[in-house]
Amino acid sequence: MRNATISVHGIAKSYGKTAVLKGVDFEIAKGSVFCLLGSNGAGKTTIVRILATLIKADGGEAILCGLNVHKQAAQVRRLISLTGQYTAVDELLTARENLIMTAKLFHVKDSKNVAAELLQKINLADVADKKVSQFSGGMRRRLDIAMSLTGDPAVLFLDEPTTGLDPQSRIEMWSMIRELSRSGVTIFLTTQYLEEAEQLADKIAILHEGKIIKEGTPEQLKTVENTLLLTVKTSKEKADVSKMMNGLDDVELLSVERQSERLEDVFLRLVGSGVEK
Ligand SMILES: Nc1ncnc2c1ncn2[C@@H]1O[C@H](COP(=O)(O)OP(=O)(O)OP(=O)(O)O)[C@@H](O)[C@H]1O
Ligand SMILES: [Mg+2]
Repeated sequence: MRNATISVHGIAKSYGKTAVLKGVDFEIAKGSVFCLLGSNGAGKTTIVRILATLIKADGGEAILCGLNVHKQAAQVRRLISLTGQYTAVDELLTARENLIMTAKLFHVKDSKNVAAELLQKINLADVADKKVSQFSGGMRRRLDIAMSLTGDPAVLFLDEPTTGLDPQSRIEMWSMIRELSRSGVTIFLTTQYLEEAEQLADKIAILHEGKIIKEGTPEQLKTVENTLLLTVKTSKEKADVSKMMNGLDDVELLSVERQSERLEDVFLRLVGSGVEK
């Protein structure tokens, strides 16, 4: 792919005798939202940790912004940011203090202004000076992501950013992720929620038994191959449909669509149960 921010080829990883990743391949276009779907234990976090340079793959190659993730880890680290499955905010500080502290860690020059801008961006400006201990789970999660943005990353890894959030917070998180994507950040998202993948992803990849077993846009994944849905207007009975279609007599074709299934059904067909809707 030209313009790929991340290219992964044949990534393998085992823990002891258990092979978790058995040759994973995918590419992510610059500025897009890539969503990795998989059941519990499929290896989503393992892939994130490999790409974020936290662990090494046993085999294969991962390139991020032209850099080899394994061989040029220090340079890669400067370009990425990772928000893990559990938040890392300091409860005893205010939202603003958390952001200023992180900005200082990243050696950002104008930490106060950067903090103020990020507070606007994540819609927490009006509670900026409240202690995080008073925040809801959704607010904490948004602050966590804002903290990871202080270094102005090219790639943002979000490992299950909405797990455990209520519907309202989830929707707020989605709009924040869309905003970030619009601003040009490449987003690597893992989720167990199919609706989330459908809402946000430019490309979805399904990880199952150590490999990517399906990938494409949400529309591509939902399209049933080799099937068209024809809507016709006719005065004839249903039973005569096949005869009618053969002769095309007394038939007015109203529309032709690709037949599609729900993403949930696609997932269940490919992977079996184990993922929440
Ligand atoms: N440090 C480790 N040592 C041994 N096994 C591990 C280690 N980390 C992960 N695993 C195993 O590797 C498999 C993949 O784990 P991983 O955390 O990548 O899955 P996941 O898709 O992120 O799951 P979840 O949806 O629960 O977050 C699991 O079977 C897990 O038990
Ligand atoms: Mg995980």
